[in-house]
Amino acid sequence: MAQSTPEEFVNQVRSSVDIVDVIGEYVQLKKRGRAYLGLCPFHSEKTPSFNVNAERQFFHCFGCNAGGDVFSFVMQMEQFTFPEALNKLADRVGLTPPVPISSEENKQHSAKATMYEACNFVARLYHYMLTSTPYGAEALRYLENRGITRKTIDEYQIGFAPDSWDFLKTQLAKRSFPQDLMVEAGLLSSNDRGKIFDKFRKRVIFPIYDSQGEVIGFGGRSIDGSDPKYLNSPETLLFNKSKTIFNLHRARPSIRKRNQAILFEGYADVIAAWQAGITNGIATLGTAFTEQQAQIIRRNTDQVILCYDGDAAGQEATSRAIEQLRKTGCTVRIAPLPQGTDPDDYIRQFGAEQFSQQVLLQAMPITSFQLKHLRSKIVIQDEADKAEYVKQALSFIVSLPNAIERDMYERQLAEEYGLSLEAVKLEAKKLFKQQKLSNQRDKDTTRRNNSINNGKSAVAKAPAHEMAERMLLYYIMRNPEIAWRVQQECNVDFQVDEHSALAAYLYAYYAEGRQPDPGAFIHYVEDEKCKQLASGLAMMQCKEDVSDKEIEDFIKQVNNYPIRAELIALRDEQKQLNLQATGSEDEERRKQLVIEAALIGMKIAQLENALKDG
Ligand code: UTP
Ligand code: MN
Repeated sequence: MAQSTPEEFVNQVRSSVDIVDVIGEYVQLKKRGRAYLGLCPFHSEKTPSFNVNAERQFFHCFGCNAGGDVFSFVMQMEQFTFPEALNKLADRVGLTPPVPISSEENKQHSAKATMYEACNFVARLYHYMLTSTPYGAEALRYLENRGITRKTIDEYQIGFAPDSWDFLKTQLAKRSFPQDLMVEAGLLSSNDRGKIFDKFRKRVIFPIYDSQGEVIGFGGRSIDGSDPKYLNSPETLLFNKSKTIFNLHRARPSIRKRNQAILFEGYADVIAAWQAGITNGIATLGTAFTEQQAQIIRRNTDQVILCYDGDAAGQEATSRAIEQLRKTGCTVRIAPLPQGTDPDDYIRQFGAEQFSQQVLLQAMPITSFQLKHLRSKIVIQDEADKAEYVKQALSFIVSLPNAIERDMYERQLAEEYGLSLEAVKLEAKKLFKQQKLSNQRDKDTTRRNNSINNGKSAVAKAPAHEMAERMLLYYIMRNPEIAWRVQQECNVDFQVDEHSALAAYLYAYYAEGRQPDPGAFIHYVEDEKCKQLASGLAMMQCKEDVSDKEIEDFIKQVNNYPIRAELIALRDEQKQLNLQATGSEDEERRKQLVIEAALIGMKIAQLENALKDG
């Protein structure tokens, strides 16, 4: 095969990957006309403003202005350098770089690449130890007792770390993995005397994968009751617990297909459910559920069933997860588990069928769960306790946005506590009024604060000349003729620096003999700010057949801007002088001011004529 140049290689990769596929692994995209639409992974939003253009292979978010081509996407999403993004995408389509892309600039890249390689190797090694050597026998029996099948062991690449201080250390050294890097990757540990040893010993190993299916860390379950029950990899360059979700890469197709995710507390629950045919289960990593995790889920579905343990800790964790998920706009339901059991126990005891019927299908809306939760916290012994509970429950009910729902819960409450519906409704009305008042007060304060913080409104429409600059860039990007014309006829630079920079890129792009192609151009632009601007412009929908006259008008707007700006300044100056003159007691001084104002008036007239002629 002929060696291609690095640039040819970049183009080869770019034309082989499909941006819709790549982005589709992070964001659920829906086809809308010619574009694909989804929730932006770069800022938090509830209604989609993130667009992917399949035809031209770029993306743009109208909410936060993130944009660019497939390389920029991977760079921004994974915090990769360009070579890293290139390698990853090349890998994806089975292309090998012509020359190894690594340089001093990319020390971190090679560190990360080595860590990925090591994690992958270690997962395979531990799996081999479990399944194919005598060292794994005890662990294999343990898993068997837990009802985990051989098929699942293979699917999840479950492994075993032998009871040794230097088994892995030796294996890694044999393959020349740098020891300090292996400590950094959380595979080896070091004590305060600098001694280095295996992190996981005598533990069943659950590899943890990132959303792309690469191993980035491990969870180790003790098999002899020793503490801690689960030992997890520490945070590393690859493993960020608050952004990682256990089983996401396997569950994603099923989550999207059913438009529903089931959130469990532990690895064991996810795996037991998977084995029972429930393939849309995911879990956190022994850490509290974070907003980032909620956002990742929301990008794939808006329906979540929480299936946490029935104990108090599980209930508190449920409350927290509800809050995070609701913020992102997910509809959450809670699956009821008997106290003291977790999903894994339940499935083992009662089977998959009953779990689906009695737990998942019984999932209740948040409100019922919260009322139940509230109820479990108040001990009702007398009428006063009862009144207090009813009041708390009602103040919760009246805050619900849906009137039908409110009515339903009010009726339930009345019935349950032997109250008349009228009394309940009356009390609800009172509480609602109180809440509205205090909300109003809060709103007023925030509004005041906001107007102090940003005196200038952020939504103000761009001034006319800026719009004209943008329109010109839009048409230049599509037509080199217009580029030449603007280059010749615009006798001032664009006022907005980024517009000016983008114009320079466009002129250079055409000067190199390239064809108009917004997708290719976005890739050509190196500066990230300019790339974003270009992708925003490329997404704009303007009429294709722009007339010469329209272009001329845009050019005039640009050319005339300095004159207009000067006119504004002069008129202001003239007004000031006139004001001073009227207010002046000193006759001499007054005359002088009037003359100055008149001179400025002449200049204004001149400029106004220039505008008319130009
Ligand atoms: P649980 O204690 O509920 O464990 O912890 P489990 O899922 O039922 O596990 P088994 O069935 O006893 O094997 C739930 C999750 O909390 C984290 C793990 O991620 C676990 O899956 N955890 C628990 C730790 O990180 N460390 C621990 O010591 C215990
Ligand atoms: Mn369990």
